[in-house]
Amino acid sequence: MSDKSTNIESLLKEKRIFEPPEEGRAAAWVKSLDEYRAHYRRSMEDPEGFWGDRARELVTWDRPWDKVLEADFHEPSIRWFSGARLNVAANCLDRHLAVGRRNKAALVWQGEPEDDVRVYTYQRLHTEVCRFANVLRKMGVGKGDRVSIYLPMIPELPIAMLACARIGAVHSVVFAGFSAHSLENRIRDCEAKVLVTADAVLRAGRTIPLKPNADEALRNCPSVSRCIVVRRAGNEVAMEPGRDSWWHDEMAADDITDRCEPESMDAEDILFILYTSGSTGKPKGVIHTTGGYLTYAAHTTQWVFDLKDDDIFWCTADIGWITGHTYIVYGPLALGGTSLMFEGVPTWPAPDRFWQVVEKFKVDIFYTAPTVIRALMREGVEWTRKRDLSSLRLLGSVGEPINPEAWMWYHQHVGGGRLPIVDTWWQTETGGILISALPYATPLKPGSATLPLPGVDADVFREEGTPAPPNEGGHLVVKRPWPGMLRGVFGDPERFRTTYFERFPGVYDAGDGARKDEDGYFWIMGRLDDVINVSGHRLGTAEIESALVAHPAVAEAAVVGMPHPVKGQTIYAYVILKAGVEGTDELRAELRTHVRKEIGPIASPEVIQFSSGLPKTRSGKIMRRILRKIAAGDYGDFGDTSTLADPVVIEDLMAGKKALL
Ligand code: WT7
Repeated sequence: MSDKSTNIESLLKEKRIFEPPEEGRAAAWVKSLDEYRAHYRRSMEDPEGFWGDRARELVTWDRPWDKVLEADFHEPSIRWFSGARLNVAANCLDRHLAVGRRNKAALVWQGEPEDDVRVYTYQRLHTEVCRFANVLRKMGVGKGDRVSIYLPMIPELPIAMLACARIGAVHSVVFAGFSAHSLENRIRDCEAKVLVTADAVLRAGRTIPLKPNADEALRNCPSVSRCIVVRRAGNEVAMEPGRDSWWHDEMAADDITDRCEPESMDAEDILFILYTSGSTGKPKGVIHTTGGYLTYAAHTTQWVFDLKDDDIFWCTADIGWITGHTYIVYGPLALGGTSLMFEGVPTWPAPDRFWQVVEKFKVDIFYTAPTVIRALMREGVEWTRKRDLSSLRLLGSVGEPINPEAWMWYHQHVGGGRLPIVDTWWQTETGGILISALPYATPLKPGSATLPLPGVDADVFREEGTPAPPNEGGHLVVKRPWPGMLRGVFGDPERFRTTYFERFPGVYDAGDGARKDEDGYFWIMGRLDDVINVSGHRLGTAEIESALVAHPAVAEAAVVGMPHPVKGQTIYAYVILKAGVEGTDELRAELRTHVRKEIGPIASPEVIQFSSGLPKTRSGKIMRRILRKIAAGDYGDFGDTSTLADPVVIEDLMAGKKALL
């Protein structure tokens, strides 16, 4: 073990580059750096030709497009494949039935209990989706109507999504770890007609009731007329007569058949809305449409993960996030692949659970987050050694920068020192991966997401909107449209424009900091806005602050991210209490519980520092830079503090921080 770690350190000092493996290369979708470069060149010189070819190859269209791309980032307006028609569920299911994949596993589901395994062939998944689509139609759900889905990682979740896609309804999946309050906000924002939920979530051996959250949310959601409940755990739940019904009863009804004609959709009709945090208190409903999103999901799954017909692809994300939408459901199924879906957590019942699942199903491609790698690293290498990981061919990482130490551990102990790791940079808004190595083409540098995919015109801009020279940090931007990009923010076109297209007119501003090195490799440095990345999940500081000030004891709050060895960042809250309220440990605990209830457990602050003031400029703006430094225990240089209204605040905050330790 000590041998190995010295070895790791020296590798890092060498700044070694990891060449793509020879094994697997001949059969790869993209076989060499030259081939990547040729694709890239063509995609820039003739984007419509490039994307038109990809779209024809990967997607089955009911009607071809009149124009591949009509876009203007100034307005902004983005239309891909105008005039074309397709159905996403028919692409993910029906077309595979006819070409010899009828009896192939589409979805392999491993429940949290070891014995809970379900394998859905394409035929069976098709049947289930058609039946549920008929259930929705019977409830009056039609094209364009919204359906909110608040489910744990069970097969009914992708079935419900695909059923919506089949009838042209818009799904809005809400991560089951979110609170009743967060669910309510999301349902109200999109005015869903139907909610699909479950009795409970099984997690680390516990049964966590879910239906009570749905009930609480629905008290204030007049748009929802029906609530369909999946029985997962079998716990007692209250059913509201006239509104609630069981999934299994609805599916077994006499008038529900296995046949359901797919709705032919316009390429720019909405496929789904997914809420994500931004720099204001209210999450944004990111809109993705049918034609471009599906093309992009299939394209990136094929090239980045080199997905082949015989592979088992395991993306460990929850489908409640974009990663699960694109790389558990739409990408793999569009390609007729086999997607593994796992209900459990990495460390229960033991820290080898992920590796045990890899061994059990002989997983080929494994895609996870750095926070998972760091957490499992801490448990020691004996857990990876216990299991046979030789089926693995390719590893992936997403959600935050992967630090070189975690990269090396992943490479050596999971990848046996031989597997490529694709570090994939993207966002809820981008629909799919934008910057990543191609496994058999791109030499890897640990910690770098490497190069933009073909068709992606990424760059780093200086503040004034000109390209930054090599190795200078700046704003990560994308200078032309790609098919998987968001088309809007639901109900708020102005926010769409100001968030992404205002700072640098004519380009997409990702909100991330990055630098490009002398080889053109991208090194992502994290968010530049008031967004915190906790374990690869995005949380808005304003959201957490407004949750805190909703508590009667709190006068004001400022939230920042603090570096954390496993989670990447964790939440640090500065809280000013109302006059006469005492800052006790009990109050801290109460505030944490309060935030859990308002947003969800992932938003609960790790540290709460009670303070008497905040560092504000004379115009009243909080200088978060200073708060971030104090949270990180970095008292060296606060930069320019000349605009501070009251410089003494800094001393008080530092003293308060030290008193916490
Ligand atoms: C933010 C997007 C779709 C990915 C899952 C999270 C950060 C994501 C990487 C990476 C460095 C990354 C960025 C981005 N991020 N992947 N490989 N290296 N940073 O989706 O919740 O929309 O968050 O995650 O900061 O903006 P999301």
